Amino acid sequence: MDESITATCIAPINIAVIKYWGKRDDKLILPVNDSISGTLSTDQLCAKTTISASPTYTETKFWLNGIEGDYKTNLRMKNVIKTMKKLAKKKSPKNKALKWKLHICSVNNFPTAAGLASSAAGYSCLVYTLAQLYGIENEDLTPIARLGSGSACRSLDGGFVHWMKGISPTGEDSVAVQLCDENYWPELRVLIIVVNEAKKSVSSTNGMSLTSTTSELFNYRIMKCVPERIRAMKKAIAERNFKDFGELTMKDSNQFHACCLDAFPPCVYMSDVSHRMAAIVHGYNKNAGETCVAYTFDAGPNVCVYLLEKEVRRFVTMLAAFFPCDAYDEGKFVRGIPIKYLSKISEEYMTNLGGSSYVERDRIKYIIHTKLGSGPKRLDDPEESLLGADGLPK
Ligand code: DP6
Repeated sequence: MDESITATCIAPINIAVIKYWGKRDDKLILPVNDSISGTLSTDQLCAKTTISASPTYTETKFWLNGIEGDYKTNLRMKNVIKTMKKLAKKKSPKNKALKWKLHICSVNNFPTAAGLASSAAGYSCLVYTLAQLYGIENEDLTPIARLGSGSACRSLDGGFVHWMKGISPTGEDSVAVQLCDENYWPELRVLIIVVNEAKKSVSSTNGMSLTSTTSELFNYRIMKCVPERIRAMKKAIAERNFKDFGELTMKDSNQFHACCLDAFPPCVYMSDVSHRMAAIVHGYNKNAGETCVAYTFDAGPNVCVYLLEKEVRRFVTMLAAFFPCDAYDEGKFVRGIPIKYLSKISEEYMTNLGGSSYVERDRIKYIIHTKLGSGPKRLDDPEESLLGADGLPK
């Protein structure tokens, strides 16, 4: 009789509006500062993971986006699985599945080439799927997701999520809590603008280590700026105050990249097209007479924009006018939630955006239009499984 057990789940990515950058403990992945992020809808962007446990498996194996990885040397993944098993054993000491090896298969529904941070979705999906597999309910999984990748702990809930740095050396108080769910601010939209650039050079892990050990600005950021911004951001979200929300988001992104440039040697993540996007957003807001669009950049050149629904058509039509590209010509410029372009953006409007109004071809690959979404979900339909009856990727 086949005793194997299987679970398949999906989990979202998240985009920080107050950035996590720097660790106080590298092994436990404890951050030096609090951070806040928005969880994006899994309709557009998610990781999907199937895990099966079977007494017939001889070793634990994993496949990521169709390629088998080396489990033995993947210390973060091993640590996550070990910690999850420990927790499961505490809950049900007689669970014999805990002795069985695992087959883990994970895919992202967005192209790796898009250069989007996939580790947050991937590790939150791993942890959530393991919890489903072992029947762990009502436990805070965020300290375990954090062991895979810090930002992963913020993907275990929907809406806006606050990861508290905690002060304990063992990290049990470094947990993520939901500030509000995805329906709290329904007008909010998100654009991921995938730019035409090569992959990032320095990983987040290495970049944050270099920044925290060499940048003097960094200390000012974590001691003074972030604590104030966390308070102000929580208030802006609670009040659905886009002006404050947007300004804090942009300022925090700018300061994070300023600290990266202050590292020695500097960590450069934004490219000239990223800087141009930032200038365009400022021009757009000035023209509108209010802050209605906000950019933020992670450890790469892609732009993430938070904006209100009423601005999406104008902003995207303007981007298409500034950055014509093959995808636009083919009607594939915007993926995700469909939009109707405005019929025309006047030349006067474009000129009014100041020094940023020249046209450049092929700088943007495409835009993903999405909104806030919920945390991970289990998919019960066996058709959804990424593993076949033989325990191998389908
Ligand atoms: C710039 O969570 O990828 O996206 O904990 O070393 O795995 P590790 O780093 P990771 O860092 C994310 C950094 C960031 C900012 C953020 O998401 O808060």
